[in-house]
Amino acid sequence: DGTLRGVVAVDGPSGTGKSTTARGLAIRLGARYLDTGAMYRAVTLAVLRSGLPLDVATTSADGSDDVAAVALGARVTVSTDPAEPRVRLDGEDVAAEIRGSAVTGAVSAVSALTAVRHHLVDEQRRIAAEALEDGAGIVVEGRDIGTVVLPDAGLKVFLTASELVRAGRRDAENTAAGRADSPDSRADLARRDKLDSSRAASPLRPADDAVEVDTSTLDIEGVLDRLQDLAEDRDMIV
Ligand code: DC
Repeated sequence: DGTLRGVVAVDGPSGTGKSTTARGLAIRLGARYLDTGAMYRAVTLAVLRSGLPLDVATTSADGSDDVAAVALGARVTVSTDPAEPRVRLDGEDVAAEIRGSAVTGAVSAVSALTAVRHHLVDEQRRIAAEALEDGAGIVVEGRDIGTVVLPDAGLKVFLTASELVRAGRRDAENTAAGRADSPDSRADLARRDKLDSSRAASPLRPADDAVEVDTSTLDIEGVLDRLQDLAEDRDMIV
């Protein structure tokens, strides 16, 4: 019926447990795993390292062309093994650096650029197609997977949680990772959500046929049980 039975799309705002859930689901299903947020973060790191002023990029056409050129020139590679997700920028492992405050503060501006989105969406579709060609399934997480990147995904999940719960989870994550200076407070989370949901290019919203799962009162295992049931109900061959 045209749906991609090997593809699970997991979308939603930050702090919903999206990465942990998507990765855990891939492990349970024996599928590959793609964290598209890590790709936006890695090209953002390339822009920051280039020294281009980001405030100009978001307010002038020339500035945004320059930023997009750096982002498109960045060599970002990801591994899709859920046991060992990796992201490299020009061969360097940048997994820790892309979670830091500098990248977190700048990523919404870079990911709002249409040229950047087109480039990364192409790459994301290529990675998913490669998995299917290899006979593997793939769990892809992001903001626009079910709506734009892979609208034919056999299962689309949209995770939500109350703002208070999400801010608490981000704080706990940052504390655990030793990032005391992170801007991921409740105010920053709300700011980023607003930017991600209101941008013209692929705003964050659930696909019409997405299953919404509120994770506010569920632990990770609870969410995983629910998603595994959904995948099995749909005969997902991941
Ligand atoms: O999921 P995350 O926090 O790592 O995502 C980082 C940023 O990247 C987030 O602010 C929005 C953007 N993003 C996006 O625009 N589209 C995606 N598919 C994934 C992430």
